[in-house]
Parts: sequence; structure tokens; C-alpha cells
Amino acid sequence: MTQTVLIIDFGSQVTQLIARRLREQGTYCEIVPFQSAETWLTKNKPVAIILSGSPASTTEAEAPLAPQQVFDAKVPVLGICYGEQLLCAQLGGKVEAGHHREFGRATLEVTDISPFFDGVWAKGDKDDVWMSHGDRVTALPPGFKVIAISPNAPFAAIADEARRFYGVQFHPEVAHTPRGGALLKNFTQGIAGCKPDWTMQSFRRTQIERIRAQVGKGRVVCGLSGGVDSSVAAVLIHEAIGDQLTCIFVDTGLMRAGEATEVVTLFREHYNIPLVHVQAEDLFLDRLAGVSDPETKRKRIGAAFIEVFDAEAHKVGGVEFLAQGTLYPDVIESVSFTGGPSVTIKSHHNVGGLPERMKLKLVEPLRELFKDEVRALGRELGLPPAFVGRHPFPGPGLAIRVPGEITREKLDILRQADVVYLDEIRKAGLYDKIWQAFAVLLPVRTVGVMGDGRTYDYVCALRAVTSTDGMTADSYPFEHAFLAKVATRIINEVKGINRVVYDVTSKPPGTIEWE
Ligand code: XMP
Repeated sequence: MTQTVLIIDFGSQVTQLIARRLREQGTYCEIVPFQSAETWLTKNKPVAIILSGSPASTTEAEAPLAPQQVFDAKVPVLGICYGEQLLCAQLGGKVEAGHHREFGRATLEVTDISPFFDGVWAKGDKDDVWMSHGDRVTALPPGFKVIAISPNAPFAAIADEARRFYGVQFHPEVAHTPRGGALLKNFTQGIAGCKPDWTMQSFRRTQIERIRAQVGKGRVVCGLSGGVDSSVAAVLIHEAIGDQLTCIFVDTGLMRAGEATEVVTLFREHYNIPLVHVQAEDLFLDRLAGVSDPETKRKRIGAAFIEVFDAEAHKVGGVEFLAQGTLYPDVIESVSFTGGPSVTIKSHHNVGGLPERMKLKLVEPLRELFKDEVRALGRELGLPPAFVGRHPFPGPGLAIRVPGEITREKLDILRQADVVYLDEIRKAGLYDKIWQAFAVLLPVRTVGVMGDGRTYDYVCALRAVTSTDGMTADSYPFEHAFLAKVATRIINEVKGINRVVYDVTSKPPGTIEWE
């Protein structure tokens, strides 16, 4: 089994960053919410354990705790922020609700040598770290010593070298702690002895074995969306089981210009993967006729997709498995302190609902990967770089970029504007700097003048955002001249649009898509 570092999540906003840092260094790790950590530890043996930060306070009665096995496992433990406070609270030290909140950059001073600092800092060194805490440690448990201090955290880094327990009040996982990655590497590869052997090449090999073992001689169907995740999953599964896999590409008529042809050519001709191409534009447009409400659109598209996919899969015959491009962020259970469900902002449509309806077993070879790792795997599998680097595209497609009622004519206008916008972005060398860029066709017509004539046409909104995971986003700060050029081209080249605006809303409070 792969050497695994266990990260116990106590609800910090940045827990996923710990995992990403470790994986970048070739160390495999899993994030488990604190409620499930005990069960996880009875079934698995990690090489090291990391306790994450948390919005909770160890000084409160209902504070979440680490299970006792963490301290009995005889493996190195690193507590980060709340994790450090937990080490102290659970092992006999003391934590007080802070009077001196420390938030943002702080200067750390190294007061003792430790293998945790090997090759990074020497005694007496000072460096920047990123803090975010209200509580602080006031007394250490037996066996611990202080190895670094900061102005507001006299126990900024602590160590019990005999038990290999370490605690840091700062966050080594964030980019604002420049040497943080090196510290995490010291902990996992130095102190815990992890071998940095988790690469996309080794992942590909183990997954192929796993897929073969799971599927046996069974038949698998995979819904291709044209996106990176389902494509990478399909290519990997095909490598494992060859023609036992059939891909189904449902052309909803809500795709961008040329997209359907691109997917079909790539899979059928380049990879020789059996592919069913279903032309379902009429059905989808029919189901969407007269619908303006965003949630109704999403639900109708989801239902139509399931109906079409199910019918096609039945034609394949004898199917036992459904392959999905589920990623790790979808799998990680979010840690909730209130226990209440979160509000639904948008009901996401992928192939949700399909497995229940079709009674199929799931094959999800990407469920341990982050998006950037899926891209790396795609490159490893030889998918074209431009395809692997594509911006995300939502399941409901252009339907949620045409607010109001959808018609074939509006979709055609939008497709043309989108092509011009992305063409200019590529020419300016900005495509890879942007998380997502697209045009939206507004259900508003305004008056304009072209030549000597009056026009009365649609408004096109342009959106471009930077983001790392789609959860938060900032609008991209294009030069004014760039936007003006795109606007001129769209108005000149796309019949039906006579005005272009740029969306400068961040997320939150906006969302990336308009519906
Ligand atoms: P929002 O609009 O919620 O979007 O800020 C966040 C990210 O999710 C994408 N998105 C979807 N992806 N099915 C998907 O697969 C969907 O139904 C869906 N809705 C939004 C959106 O493009 C952005 O990347």
C-alpha cells in the first residue's frame, strides 16, 4: 500500500493546501474529517499525522478533539495552529483564549535547533511566517520544548523530539510562509521517512491495476462531456480495459463552437475508443422552450441528460459499471460545526442521479486527485496540451450563459461572440493566466448606430476570472484597450449584438457563471 500521511481536518479554510503541498513533493496523503478519524485509523496505518487548523477554540467545552490513537500510533505528529493547541490541550499543556490576536505576516525567530528546521533555518535565524490565530499556548505539555518564537506567540514552534511530535502556531501550508513547504518536507520525508515516490507515472500504473481488478470482464460506460476530467478518466480506463469501455457523448446543442467535433475526433480517431455520439440538440431545446428560471433550466437539462444517457447505455447492453471523473474536492466531506445543511446556490448538473437510476457500480479513478493533478495525469497519458489546459466548462453548457429564454438563434449568436473573445485572449497570451473566460448573451436589447442606421440588438457581457478552485474568484484586470478591441470585433463580426459590457464582480458576492 502507498505510504500515506493522514491529515485530520478540523475545518480550516486552508486544509486542502496542506495536501497539495505534500503531493507536490511526491508524498501521498488523505484528508479525513475529525469525526471520521478514529474509524480511519482503525483500518489504516499512516506514516505520519497532521492536525489541521480550525475556526474552533480548544478552550470551549465542545471543541473537536483528536482521537487518542493519534498519540498512540508511534508515528510523527504535526499540529498546525489549532492542531498545535490541541497537542497542548490533549497532552497536558495549557491554551488560553488570546488577548493578542495575530493575523497575517509575523516574524519568527528560531530559538533552538530541531530536525524540523534542518537545512531551512539555524538557531537565531528570523523569517516571515503567516499567522492566523486568536488563542495561544501558555504552558507546554511534558516532553515539549520551544524551538521558535514570534512577537505574539511565545510558543510559535514546539517539539517533543523523543516522540516526534511537533506543533506550529503559523501556517506552513500557505504561500505567505515562504519556507513552509520545506518545513513540511522535513516533517514528512526527514522525520517520518516518507519516500517521495507518489508521481503521476506511479499513479497511472496503480490505477490501471485497480481498474482491472474492480471491473474484471464487465462492461463500462463513461459519459464524456468534453471537459478534462471525464476525458482523462476515459483514456485511463481505456488503457486498463480496452474495448470493454464505451464512451457516450451527448451533444446537447449547448456546447461551444466546434466542441462536439473536437471531442468526437479526439476519442474516435486519435484514441480509437468506442464512442457513441448522440445528437440530442432538438430534445434539449424542446425541454428548455419557454423556461427562464435558472434552477428549472438546470433541472430540465439534468433530467434530459439522464434520459438520453440511460437509453444509449441500454443499447450498449450488459453494462455493469459507470465511469465518472469525480475529483478529490468533491469527495472530501466538508467539516461542519453547525451540523446543518449548507444552502444550495446552484444545483450542479454532471451525471448526478445516474448511478441510482441505472443501478450501476461506479468506477472513479480520479477520486484521489486535485484538478492540477488530473491535468498532469492527462499530460502523462498523452492528451494534447491544449485540451488538458482547457478552462472548465459547466455541465449545463451555454444554457446558463443565456439568461432568460433559450433559443437556437441566441445560442448561435453567443457561440460566435465567445469564439471572438477567446481568440483575442489566446492572441494576447492570456489564456493560461485566466481560470475561465466566456461570453454571456443578455436578454436585453439596446439601441445603437451602425453606419447611418439604427440598430436594436442584444447586449453581450464578457466574464473572465482568476481562481484556484472555482470557490472564490476575482475578475481579470484586462487593459482597457484589450476590452475595447474585443468589443469592436464582436459588434462588427457578430450579427445580433450591438453593445458589449465587462463583468467586474468577484465571487463572492457574485458567482462565476451568471445562472
Ligand atoms: P459558480 O457559477 O457556481 O461556478 O461560481 C463555479 C465553477 O463551477 C462551474 N459550474 C459547473 N460545473 N456543472 C459543472 O460541472 C454545473 O452545473 C456547473 N455550474 C457551474 C463553473 O463554470 C465554475 O467553474
